[in-house]
Amino acid sequence: MNNRSKSQALFERAIVHLAGGVNSPVRAFRAVGGTPLYIERGEGAYLYDVDGGRFLDFCCSWGPLILGHAHPDIVEAINHTAARGTSFGTVHENEVLLAEKIAGLCPHIEMLRFVSSGTEAVMSAVRLARGFTNRDKIVKFSGCYHGHSDYLLASAGSGLVTFGIPSSAGVPEDFTKHTLVAPLNDIDAVEKLFSQHGTEIAAVIIEPVPANNGLLLQSKEYLEFLRRITSVNGALLIFDEVISGFRVAPGGAAQYYGITPDICTYGKVIGGGLPVGAFGGRSEIMHLLAPEGPIYQAGTLSGNPLALACGLATLDYLEKHNGWKMLEERTRAFTGSLREKTSELPINVVSIGSIFWINLQPQIVSRAEEISSEGTKKYAKVFNAALAAGIYLAPSAYEVGFVSTAHGADDLSSAAERLAGILTSSLV
Ligand SMILES: Cc1ncc(COP(=O)(O)O)c(C=O)c1O
Repeated sequence: MNNRSKSQALFERAIVHLAGGVNSPVRAFRAVGGTPLYIERGEGAYLYDVDGGRFLDFCCSWGPLILGHAHPDIVEAINHTAARGTSFGTVHENEVLLAEKIAGLCPHIEMLRFVSSGTEAVMSAVRLARGFTNRDKIVKFSGCYHGHSDYLLASAGSGLVTFGIPSSAGVPEDFTKHTLVAPLNDIDAVEKLFSQHGTEIAAVIIEPVPANNGLLLQSKEYLEFLRRITSVNGALLIFDEVISGFRVAPGGAAQYYGITPDICTYGKVIGGGLPVGAFGGRSEIMHLLAPEGPIYQAGTLSGNPLALACGLATLDYLEKHNGWKMLEERTRAFTGSLREKTSELPINVVSIGSIFWINLQPQIVSRAEEISSEGTKKYAKVFNAALAAGIYLAPSAYEVGFVSTAHGADDLSSAAERLAGILTSSLV
């Protein structure tokens, strides 16, 4: 075990004034044991903690850091922008530039609006769908996380499932009565909901690449089915691409699968590590937002100049360096090598674009309900052994890993070697 004395001392102080010592629950290491690492700095693909440890980072701040830590273009974008002011409370050029860039990469996004988090993006998208259709109900899938707004906290993935919480306390039943939950990859369940509530359903919302309860890849045919059933019933299809957007392809999962949703939500990558979110889609729908239409949505720091400058720098870099292709190739080589070296073990390694998941059970799964608790119980051992070997995985069995452009081929091949050894010694 690495020395964590300084982290331990900081955490002891943290729990005095910060609830649970953290500002987001999974960071607390409850599922894997021990003290969270206090990070002093990040550089490229590595995290450096206050106790002198160096870790190859596969968490990448839960996805945003597609260029790695402190990328020179991001640092330059922040310095350049901050020197001119950090927030204006009015319009500025980067909003126009990033909106044009996103619309160029994602033809299904005719118009969009920036907000400050993925949670806010999804909340606003659902309000928009309800306002557009004049209907109240939404269909979500168990295992999909869409942020922590009240009515979306039912069966909502890693954070809740890590702590065994089916849905959050403090959410009145009245608030979730319009949220219908179906298992992923189950045509009959969705058909049944539409046969019972078809004329009341405003939208079906899905992570097209469900990555918050393991990586539960769906078939193109299933996503096409959702496109069809929503269109036929006058409901909207919302793709929550907060993770998959600008990660699995330049145009996200919509482009990857060739499916056009009505509304998409984004976050993470488009802020390059600063707080951001966005939602957008057909202009016919987006025109209903205030000030043009009756659906209200607003934010003091929405479209923050620093965040948007970092988003622009990120997308520019990826475009200029063919980043998506490079990321996919490196991730495929890494997961392929890990798969080969662990072929005798009862696990499987799933990946798409630059996202991967080490599933500690032999079956490939596409529904949250299929994940074995036997497998996830073994994760703490794997996580802590990886940490001792200088590899930072996310501190929950249900979280995926991310590869950034800073993860070099050598970093990845050595990580595959070390992880294979760790999995072998932890699981047999
Ligand atoms: C698919 C998805 N939607 C929404 C959110 C919420 O985003 P944020 O944490 O920025 O509020 C997340 C966060 O992980 C997410 O993965």
